[in-house]
Amino acid sequence: MAKHEPRRRAKFAADLFLELGAWGPQSMRIESALRDAIRSGRLGEGARLPSTRVLAAEIGVSRNSVVAAYSQLSAEGWIVGRRGGGTVVAVAPAQTLGEQAPPRPLRKAGVSFDFSPSEPNPGSFPRHEWLRALRRVLAQTPDASLGYGDPAGHADLRHELAVYLRRARGLAVAPENLVVTTGFSQGLSLLLRALAHNGVTKVAVEHPCVPGHRALIRRVGHELVLLDVDEHGARVAELAESGVGAVLLTPNRQHPLGVQLSPRRRASLLDWARTCGALVIENDYDGEFRYDGHRISPLQALDPSAVAYGGTIAKTLGAAARVGWLALPTSWMEPLITEKWYADLQTSVLEQLALTELLRSGAYDRHIRKMRGVHRQRRDLLLELLATKVPVLQPSGIAAGLSVVVEVCDIETEAAVLAAARDRGIALRGLSQGNYYERDAKAGIVIGYAAAPDHSYAAGVEALALVLAAAV
Ligand SMILES: Cc1ncc(COP(=O)(O)O)c(C=O)c1O
Repeated sequence: MAKHEPRRRAKFAADLFLELGAWGPQSMRIESALRDAIRSGRLGEGARLPSTRVLAAEIGVSRNSVVAAYSQLSAEGWIVGRRGGGTVVAVAPAQTLGEQAPPRPLRKAGVSFDFSPSEPNPGSFPRHEWLRALRRVLAQTPDASLGYGDPAGHADLRHELAVYLRRARGLAVAPENLVVTTGFSQGLSLLLRALAHNGVTKVAVEHPCVPGHRALIRRVGHELVLLDVDEHGARVAELAESGVGAVLLTPNRQHPLGVQLSPRRRASLLDWARTCGALVIENDYDGEFRYDGHRISPLQALDPSAVAYGGTIAKTLGAAARVGWLALPTSWMEPLITEKWYADLQTSVLEQLALTELLRSGAYDRHIRKMRGVHRQRRDLLLELLATKVPVLQPSGIAAGLSVVVEVCDIETEAAVLAAARDRGIALRGLSQGNYYERDAKAGIVIGYAAAPDHSYAAGVEALALVLAAAV
């Protein structure tokens, strides 16, 4: 190449072969075809995608569907918009996920400002405390504890967790009713399998919810019932005629809308569960982070015999250490331990013991208290800038958690905001494009304020407010 010849940025993927699946919304079929092309290496890193207009015309779909697909793939880190250079593949085939893996990013290419919901800043992982805990564990733990142990979890961790959950989260739980899992996701997967083995065939879930949870419920073979959500939380009255054997809820902070399940609905939910012998799965994924208003007792404390409560360190510490827990009715312990044994024999003992040490030393509580302060400040800054620069937007779900939601007037506006954000290197998720809904999606933007590194947060909020002000 001559010295001053500009480097060609990307191979031009003008003639793109896409095999669209036969079912599902158009945008998801395009997404999935593009993911497959990237995974298989047919579209390599840097390969340029056709413009949304060209691709829409080529495959005979609406341009909105292509825009939605590109936006989702970009949020997941597969592709990235280049200023003036179109859209290119961001992930090399060797770095892509396995064929069966869900479409989660390994890295976020092209993102300058990260507003992904529900993720803590990975830079806030307490490296020093974790290392100290691990060093202590390795120095003091007898050899006999370093092999295979109880699939329900290490006795020391179950003890410390029970103490913590009673004190800090208000649960009514003993160590014998705890199973340690590899994150909440595994706990849910085990519960769904145990339910299936016990004759349950139908499971309800809030609508909207994390799309992966709907997919998991179906993958295990359950029929899915969607429970709509209003300002009082999930409409639990709809359970009465549903015939479901279990329901998955985020009662303490509905994900992604942020509403709390009202006391009246909590009572009628538990009445229903007792009457039908159904199991309520309480996902308390980020309950540690409440800034305003008073805490409501978890469902588990109201009726430990009807509720399987799940928690995780993914939001308090970070998703790199995979520990979660289930507090279970006694009758569900054996089925869960059996499923856990089949799944992986046990959660990493070293991670279990490091967490035990953090709980025992008080470092876990200290970290949560510190992060609660950090998140509160970030939320306040976000709300302040939205109020001054985009007063037309009404953020909701602000009292707790790691994200707020702003509804926008329609799907086109949501797509425009996401596209403008992508161009500015801002990672954001849409209520509609994020597939939180399966039907009748509301349009809105879910703004996660915990994920960004400290140094870029303030500038990111400014950039985001400008994008929103221009697009809504
Ligand atoms: C609502 C909700 N529940 C559960 C999880 C997963 O938790 P874990 O990482 O412990 O599997 C997530 C992850 O983002 C989430 O958003």
